[in-house]
Amino acid sequence: MAANILDGKAISAELKVKVAERVAALKARGVTPGLAVILVGNDPASEIYVRNKGKGCEETGMLSRTVRMDADTTQEALEAEIEKLNEDPDIHGILVQLPLPKHLNEQAALSRILPEKDVDGFHLMNVGRLAAGAEGVVPCTPKGALYMLQSAGIELAGKEAVVIGRSNIVGKPMAMLLLQQNCTVTVCHSKTKNLKEHTRQADILVSAVGKPHFVTADMVKPGAVVVDVGINRVDGKVIGDVDFEQVKEIAGWITPVPGGVGRMTIAMLLSNTADAAERTLNRE
Ligand code: GUN
Repeated sequence: MAANILDGKAISAELKVKVAERVAALKARGVTPGLAVILVGNDPASEIYVRNKGKGCEETGMLSRTVRMDADTTQEALEAEIEKLNEDPDIHGILVQLPLPKHLNEQAALSRILPEKDVDGFHLMNVGRLAAGAEGVVPCTPKGALYMLQSAGIELAGKEAVVIGRSNIVGKPMAMLLLQQNCTVTVCHSKTKNLKEHTRQADILVSAVGKPHFVTADMVKPGAVVVDVGINRVDGKVIGDVDFEQVKEIAGWITPVPGGVGRMTIAMLLSNTADAAERTLNRE
């Protein structure tokens, strides 16, 4: 039997409507949420991402600002730009688009962002809060993936969850979120031995590897929930980490690519920005 589809298009559209309502309420109280994106260089994938962020701000009524910097920008210049945005009362969320050019220190730049304006949740303060189970900003992609599971009413407590990939952007925070939901979590990576033995145990399988069609049907437990975080460009087409056509015949639930988790990232970024704007009002 073919799997149920977790429809990122529909779920993100609903979430954006909720965010737009919150933005309207904030505006009525005199605050327009503002999101600033810093883009260093002109990586084509990043350009698309930044454009979609701008569109999302427009759809939900937020202020959007894009700061473009040359690929040979210095660390000092980047951090000075972040400082300016930290001090700007019109900006509630700051995002430094990754990856940065190799000569720049990514973590140093990210930790320059005020933790309360860090809508990506990449500041070490927010990373620590997530690890400790304390309230903080949670990275958009894993938060969006979890939101999809929850909005479909999928039970998580006590389930075996396997995350493939250990990046700071997706794999590690995804593992933390699933642990918070009382899953038993295994994180697999490029040095994992017998990957298939692990993935076949998974009730919830999350792939964040960045390799097209890496997850094949023989790696999936029948009835499992398969979450594909991969966005791979092959011959001008966007393809996930999961071999969708094969795996959908085995899985119980599956996220498509495109139209899956990717849609949730932007919606969650907008939601995190609305949270940040609400926090400023609650502090006053
Ligand atoms: N590049 C790819 N994904 C992301 C993300 O979620 N945030 C930022 N800042 N850069 C990214």
